[in-house]
Amino acid sequence: LRLVEPIHQSFTGMWVITRYADAKAVLRDSRFCVNKMQKNVKQKSHSLEQRDFNTLAQAIDKWLIYLDPPEHTRLRGLISKAFSSTSVNFLRPQIQKITDELISKVRHKGFMDIISEFACPLPCNVIAAILGIPVEDWLQLYHWSDKLSNILDPLSSLEDYEQMNTVALEFTNYFKSLIAQRQKSPQQDLLSALITVKEQNNKLSEDEIISVCMLLFLTGEETTVNLIGNGMLALLSHPEQMQQIKTQPMLIQSAVEEILRYDSPIQITTRVATEDIVIDDVTVRCGEKVLVVLGAANRDPAQFPEPDCFDITRVNNNHLAFADGIHYCLGAALTRIEAEIAINTLIQQLPDLKLSQDQPEWRNKVAFRSLKALPVT
Ligand code: HEM
Repeated sequence: LRLVEPIHQSFTGMWVITRYADAKAVLRDSRFCVNKMQKNVKQKSHSLEQRDFNTLAQAIDKWLIYLDPPEHTRLRGLISKAFSSTSVNFLRPQIQKITDELISKVRHKGFMDIISEFACPLPCNVIAAILGIPVEDWLQLYHWSDKLSNILDPLSSLEDYEQMNTVALEFTNYFKSLIAQRQKSPQQDLLSALITVKEQNNKLSEDEIISVCMLLFLTGEETTVNLIGNGMLALLSHPEQMQQIKTQPMLIQSAVEEILRYDSPIQITTRVATEDIVIDDVTVRCGEKVLVVLGAANRDPAQFPEPDCFDITRVNNNHLAFADGIHYCLGAALTRIEAEIAINTLIQQLPDLKLSQDQPEWRNKVAFRSLKALPVT
């Protein structure tokens, strides 16, 4: 598609963008918004509201990924400020400890599934640790966010939404009590920072803080699982690159960038035109939807020489795995550190890992590039 019709109108009327330059331009163009595209999610959550199930609807309403300026600008400013006050580099020892604990559980088994036994629990535990959630509650948070992650699946049914609303209610009550504790005695954690952060007399409300916490679990989890899983698969299937990283562990930073480009954890995002917009020789009409295929843009030969080649020493790797523009991923720095530590530690502590299946199965998902499992011996 990128070669023959890089700006293609599908039978649903939606425009599909596959070239790197066009994708970047759309993501940076303020004439494209995100809000209207959430009609689907909102319709479902509104029908829940009418049935007195509005906890989920309230949370979704305040998620950055679904907001446009000026609401987006205000919330993102406050959240970024709180996020940067708990510097992600400061978290390295904590992430290393969580990683070591997970590896110690599987070290002597002789086999493992990297996805379920390592990649899945890691990001949830890391976000829980950053927010300052007591360790004994981490497993509960993992179960809640696992159930809530169906929100990001466009095929979720109304019944799924009802179940998620119940979970959202439990999540909300849990965080209300934790917020009350932190208001009395603030700690050195992200939750306390979200409570105290201020910008020009602006603060986050309790509902907004809870909504941010839910969003962090959802956006930070599956994506990071995919990054670690896809990364280990790419390295284990390219033994020469694996050898290179074993002998030069400092290559891990560029290796993570290459994994993000080569098998982007999020493959697509969408926008809606707020006016008629010309892209190359095509006019996208006001109200029409645009599907930006990040995965295709990241394999565009006009931007990346030999794009289908997995090369951990690639230079100028300005991929779009974290999108671009005002919605650029807020967790990019955190996830980079998580993946660096997770992949390097796996490789160093379990240097003889081998794939049990030549072709592990991918999940049947459009938006996410996710493995079902990654069995290794
Ligand atoms: C936004 C990718 C990890 C928090 C985004 C977007 C992408 C993305 C593509 C933009 C969506 C759009 O424009 O429609 C990824 C990938 C990750 C990752 C590939 C890991 C490999 C994380 C983590 C967190 C996080 C660990 C937080 C703990 C967010 C938030 C937004 C976002 C809050 C919304 C920003 C906004 O709308 O202003 N991410 N993400 N992400 N991400 Fe990530």
